[in-house]
Amino acid sequence: MTHGNEKTDKKSASPIWGGRFSGGPSQLMQDINASISYDKTFYRQDIAGSIAHATMLASQNIISVSDKDAIISGLTQIEDEISTGTFTFSAELEDIHMNIETRLVELIGAPAKRLHTARSRNDQVATDLRLWLRDSLVNLDAMLMALQSALLDKAETYADTLMPGFTHLQTAQPITFGFHLMAYVEMFGRDRSRLADCARRMNESPLGAAALAGTGYPIDRHQTAGLLGFDRPMANAMDAVSSRDFAIEFMAAASICATHLSRLAEEIVIWSTDRFGFISLSDAFTTGSSIMPQKRNPDAAELVRAKPGRIIGDLVSLLTVIKGLPLAYGKDMQEDKEPVFDAEASLSVAIAAMTGMIEDMTAHAEPMRRALEKGHPNATDLADYLVSALNIPFRDAHHVTGQLVALADEKGCALEQLELPEMQKIEPALGTDVLDILRLENAVAARTSFGGTAPSEVRNRIADARKHYLDSQ
Ligand code: ARG
Repeated sequence: MTHGNEKTDKKSASPIWGGRFSGGPSQLMQDINASISYDKTFYRQDIAGSIAHATMLASQNIISVSDKDAIISGLTQIEDEISTGTFTFSAELEDIHMNIETRLVELIGAPAKRLHTARSRNDQVATDLRLWLRDSLVNLDAMLMALQSALLDKAETYADTLMPGFTHLQTAQPITFGFHLMAYVEMFGRDRSRLADCARRMNESPLGAAALAGTGYPIDRHQTAGLLGFDRPMANAMDAVSSRDFAIEFMAAASICATHLSRLAEEIVIWSTDRFGFISLSDAFTTGSSIMPQKRNPDAAELVRAKPGRIIGDLVSLLTVIKGLPLAYGKDMQEDKEPVFDAEASLSVAIAAMTGMIEDMTAHAEPMRRALEKGHPNATDLADYLVSALNIPFRDAHHVTGQLVALADEKGCALEQLELPEMQKIEPALGTDVLDILRLENAVAARTSFGGTAPSEVRNRIADARKHYLDSQ
């Protein structure tokens, strides 16, 4: 967009607020001021807010019932025009509120001019954004539930599939793939609860706060709050028009959720490499290379891995706008919307792509098993056996196990492939039962502590999680 000599263009003053102006704003003023290109996103919420407001004004005898009826039928027609794409938006009318109000005057004439009684765009925009975000949170919760459901199904399928559990991305202890996936079911469960908490806290109505100080008209804020499904009106008019912590809180919760998604995405990238070969993604969630015909790239996972860059950026962007802003409304606050819309869109596409990848992915037991056999993941089990069966102090048991690991490395085999006599040269008290202990299946099956990796325990937790996360809806 160029801003050249446009500032000299003559414009006329706004029909909405231009009473005291003789000239109109410069083109540059319009460019920096207009928010219609993005705030039209919540036109439905704006219309719902206006219908509630008009209904209340009539029931309080502030406007007549016939004006209210005309306003509502005009607004209903405008909603239809916007949703079918026949509405003409104008940047000269700044924002969605003035675009709709101007059209309402065109459609129904005089009654339209009574709609803005006892209301300001300050409480109007705060109401719209809360309503929009509240609707979006319902959708995000359903999407996260679908992701949990996909993870639970895969966890069930792979509840017995052994794989290495890592610390420092080095083989640590044997686990199952189902157990690993269940970790994410819990993380997304907490994300849902953070978003639900945020939805609950934001569900108060700013409408009727007017510009900042309330109004002398006998309005009923409880009625409009009720009509719009809010729990109550916000208790302080100045807070109602000034606060955006509901939006910040949403983006903070979205950032945490995006971070969880990115960890899973990174694991998918690692697991699907040739070197790991633990999983395959379906064709639906991979892309080819324009130059290297053999390639299958996990682009969707990489994009999900990248999304926190945007979402955390959105959070920091609004925090920075609001920080140090004096009460009440400042036009700075118009900058709240794009980060919120972007965070919501980025998070929902990331959740959807992750759900698709999980639903379609196949795990490969063989490569997982081979990787597991390499890293002596049963060393801890051996040390624990020396402690419990032979009453060796843990520190000494750790040392003996270390020597057995060194012996296996020297011979280029796994711990469980050592012969008993050669093991007994290091620790004469070892009996044949150690061979059972060293079997990887047994090592996994033994970890039956609550939340542990034993397949029986993982199945219990899957059943609980299904009840807890999926049935309540
Ligand atoms: N478009 C504005 C916003 O998004 C609406 C509120 C305008 N209020 C005002 N006092 N200029 O914040």
